[in-house]
Amino acid sequence: MKKYGVNDLRRMYLEFFESKGHLAMKSFSLVPHNDNSLLIINSGMAPLKPYFTGQEIPPRRRVTTCQKCIRTGDIENVGKTARHGTFFEMLGNWSLGDYFKDESISYSFEFLTKVLNIPIERLAVTVYAGDNKIPFDEVSHNKWLSLGIKKERIARTVEDNFWIAGASGPCGPDTEIFYFRSNDEIPEVFDPEDDRWVEIWNNVFMEFYKDENGNVTELPKKNVDTGMGYERATAVLEGVLDNYTSSVWKDVIDLISDIAKKPYIGNEESMRIIADHIRTAVFISADPASIKPSNTDQGYILRRLIRRAIRHAKKLEIDISSDWEQRIAKLIISKYKKYYSELTENENVVLEVLKNEKEKFNRTLEKGLREFNKVSNKDIDAETAFHLYDTYGFPIELTEELAHDAKIKVDTLGF
Ligand code: ALA
Repeated sequence: MKKYGVNDLRRMYLEFFESKGHLAMKSFSLVPHNDNSLLIINSGMAPLKPYFTGQEIPPRRRVTTCQKCIRTGDIENVGKTARHGTFFEMLGNWSLGDYFKDESISYSFEFLTKVLNIPIERLAVTVYAGDNKIPFDEVSHNKWLSLGIKKERIARTVEDNFWIAGASGPCGPDTEIFYFRSNDEIPEVFDPEDDRWVEIWNNVFMEFYKDENGNVTELPKKNVDTGMGYERATAVLEGVLDNYTSSVWKDVIDLISDIAKKPYIGNEESMRIIADHIRTAVFISADPASIKPSNTDQGYILRRLIRRAIRHAKKLEIDISSDWEQRIAKLIISKYKKYYSELTENENVVLEVLKNEKEKFNRTLEKGLREFNKVSNKDIDAETAFHLYDTYGFPIELTEELAHDAKIKVDTLGF
């Protein structure tokens, strides 16, 4: 398959949906607007919620974005796997009371098979199976059949084919599109549990609203919410099994390897963590919401990411006081600034945030690690964890991580 550069897929996606009458909007800020249910934007649809519920009027009924998203819920997996990350871009197209299932599925199919030239044999889909409340999604099923997807390649589920952002809000059945990423012979019958099939795109048909008590009502209009994770799609299209070796990351990993004077193989965990966390920190500190490292809310997310990256740089024996983080941040900015103009506008702010936070943490890191080694011959009580936090600037999660490596426990609750 043809290889795309890091900015190509994004451009091709947005141009395709512009050609279908969508308004291409800039990514929204990482900080939600008028939404207390969320600390930081975690999906393409999150900033668009008021349009779905009818609270606000959208600038057009067809919208497309590439949205910067952050999810730190499974941060402990970052580095350990080939695909976890705290930051990702979500490509999406939305119908806000305009088209519905038929056009949505046609657009996805056309983009994948005509623009990206993915052979139809490599595609499979899932559709909503139906339960006693919402019926089987026959419309989507028949649409896929009419486009040439064989019936053996259409699976039906209930849990995995219904999407909602969190516990309440706009929601509906969805159809997920999978790509066969392996060189093995493609099985006749599609099994969504077979991990050679990777989900690349989700089309959600938002026609319901679920309230806090679980009551489901119909939305004023039928909407479409789609999401394609940019880094996963790029890795899949480039045929790599480790996201951190795709064109999104390769040069960043090469730079880290050069700075650390160590190969990527054998040092994957720390290198992935440094790459991912510095990139997320760059995007948070460049955001128009002007977030600075602190001990609360988004500022704490930023602090924790920078400090975790620093600890892993130390693990790789990088000279912390050198300009390593500035070089990595500058490379990331140069890769992304074409689309995210805030990176250019706030480049100096970003570099300063990283430098200041590093200097602050570095003053106590060495002593803190010595202190940790002293106290880690037994489980760590709440007071000691607080001492590490208060005196040495160790976020509790850092103490937990060190404790995990040392196979001891921390009284997080008491902390
Ligand atoms: N909002 C949907 C998702 O994130 C498209 O999967």
